Amino acid sequence: MNVLVIGGGVIGLSIARELHIAGVRDITVADKGTPGKEASWAAAGMLAPNAETEGVDDFYRFCSESNDLYPNFAESLHMDTGIDVGLDLAGTLQLAFDDNEADRLLKKYRRQKDAGLPTEMLSAEEVLRLEPEISSSVILGIYYPHDRQVDNRKLVAALLEYCRRNKISVLQDQQISSVTVESGRLTGAIGKTRRFSADLAILATGAWTSFIEIGDTGPISVDIKPIRGQMIAFETSDRLLKKVIYGNNCYLVPRADGRILVGATVEDVGFEKTVTDEAVSELTTSAAEILPETANLDIVEKWSGLRPRSTDELPIIGYVAGIDNLFIASGHYRNGILLAPLTAKMIAEKVVQNIDSPYFSIFSPERFNVRLAV
Ligand code: GLY
Repeated sequence: MNVLVIGGGVIGLSIARELHIAGVRDITVADKGTPGKEASWAAAGMLAPNAETEGVDDFYRFCSESNDLYPNFAESLHMDTGIDVGLDLAGTLQLAFDDNEADRLLKKYRRQKDAGLPTEMLSAEEVLRLEPEISSSVILGIYYPHDRQVDNRKLVAALLEYCRRNKISVLQDQQISSVTVESGRLTGAIGKTRRFSADLAILATGAWTSFIEIGDTGPISVDIKPIRGQMIAFETSDRLLKKVIYGNNCYLVPRADGRILVGATVEDVGFEKTVTDEAVSELTTSAAEILPETANLDIVEKWSGLRPRSTDELPIIGYVAGIDNLFIASGHYRNGILLAPLTAKMIAEKVVQNIDSPYFSIFSPERFNVRLAV
């Protein structure tokens, strides 16, 4: 079987790897630019189903199951490529610095505790015992022992190395404008400099998904928007934090090398990746409210990325109705890094063993009436 993965971000590369593990040998990944250099590179690498969701619903379960796959995912990538992707199991703290936020977190904690989720309520003293550099104006915190972080840039490097070692062809600067379809079956795709034939294609095109044309019927009828996230990073010689911290207005992600990432804005500004002075100033102020020492640190990097957001903010994963050999795996919005292993697993199991994950019906493109126009 000849598979074309369109999009070389963390979702596309993870799918290519999982298909290879499942025995598929003829795999090409085509990226519009430099593989792994869009949202996958810009992310902060938080694996935070409990901090990032409010309720206990299908989406929470999906996030949580994918998080559970991470220790094996990271370990096997390390073994296969020699690259340690920096999976850090120290957990995550969500903190309140004012009464409104304390009230919101208390309610969230009770809801999660009642549902049996892994969560602990901490007093201000307990927070400061765990993380002494946090501002003493903290009121309370929730500790999520299972919410983690991974170094997303190392993760992308490991996935690319896996592809290189296993003869998965990864093409750069090969923007796919359309897929070709004959009698309800995908036959291939048209790239910037060449045509591809394929038995199966997967659109892992993130924020750029809505541009793909389906045969001569026009762009695919799926509405995914780019949502800009701007971030900054400080450098420290001593590690100031052990855990990922969520505050009222930003999150802080302490990397093993001493860098502290601070993010992120959520902006609907189209395909605009400029980093603005206003956002840098807001992130700097918000970071110092949580971790006062950052006021004395230099900003060593500023960047932004485009999260792919569907209209209901949920991923879109499944076959395009009317074309039984074209998948979409997109719209992962704030959780692309977290959701890569499970998205890849469910697609590989479907392609190779015809196993239907229950998540296909939940995240099906059909909820947006995505189909081959006739
Ligand atoms: N998951 C964090 C973000 O999207 O900013």
